[in-house]
Amino acid sequence: MPDEKIAVGPGDRVFVLTGAGVSAESGLKTFRDQGGLWEGYRVEDVATPEAWAADAAQVWRFYSERRRGARGAEPNAAHRALAELEEAMGERFFLCTQNVDDLHERAGSRRLVHMHGELFMSRCENSPVSPAVFGPACGRTPFRDEALYESAEAIARCACGGRIRPHIVWFGEIPLEMERIQQEIERSTVMLVVGTSGAVYPAANFVRWAGPRTRKYYIGPEKPMNAQAFTRLMLGNAGEVLPGLLKAASSQ
Ligand code: APR
Repeated sequence: MPDEKIAVGPGDRVFVLTGAGVSAESGLKTFRDQGGLWEGYRVEDVATPEAWAADAAQVWRFYSERRRGARGAEPNAAHRALAELEEAMGERFFLCTQNVDDLHERAGSRRLVHMHGELFMSRCENSPVSPAVFGPACGRTPFRDEALYESAEAIARCACGGRIRPHIVWFGEIPLEMERIQQEIERSTVMLVVGTSGAVYPAANFVRWAGPRTRKYYIGPEKPMNAQAFTRLMLGNAGEVLPGLLKAASSQ
């Protein structure tokens, strides 16, 4: 574990991007590591609009299994360290997660967005998340949903007749809250990217969207694919590296 500290002063604004690695120490599988989710499933069978059209029950079985796993998991030291940093920095802190689990919230994070959606939310398949982009169809907004749907018959229906789908951004769909994310990146002076392989866009490009004055750190056990874009790589598990790093930061 590296013994390095990041100095954060009163003029700094911190933007954090997390990926599946931040929840690994809570026992949730990542996607692309050995034994990861994409070894057991094909993306095109469970995480695309085409998969939903072809076999909605198979898609829901995948996300029901994810719901079951996340329900049984607890936030780890990395989630807690980020919530503590937010507590110390207030509105100068912003967290964008690619994760659909709710472990950041359960650790106490509030200034966060889930750019790839949320596991415990569902929506009508006819209810676009961004009416401005797609045009309104069914007016029902995404809602809290912890149910498990494991057969075609079990899938709930909306009043409009549409099927209830996971509130997840699939491959080929547009990530959520991009305008706010872009604004927060542009005004950041420190960027922490934690536990993401740098394989999925646009998140893999956030480190390049930040200006030259922004110090950019990667935290995770292996080099990400976009490693060359960072100021420094802090190689280690998030739950071990983040707490020391952030204590130093919040005491500045
Ligand atoms: N601490 C920090 N990082 C870790 C840890 C840990 N304890 N364990 C593993 N990692 C790192 C791995 O080294 C890897 O680089 O987490 C990263 C996980 O990468 P991916 O599995 O590719 O997950 P992620 O980058 O979040 O995937 C992005 O892909 O399939 C989609 O929509 C899904 O949001 C997801 C997106």
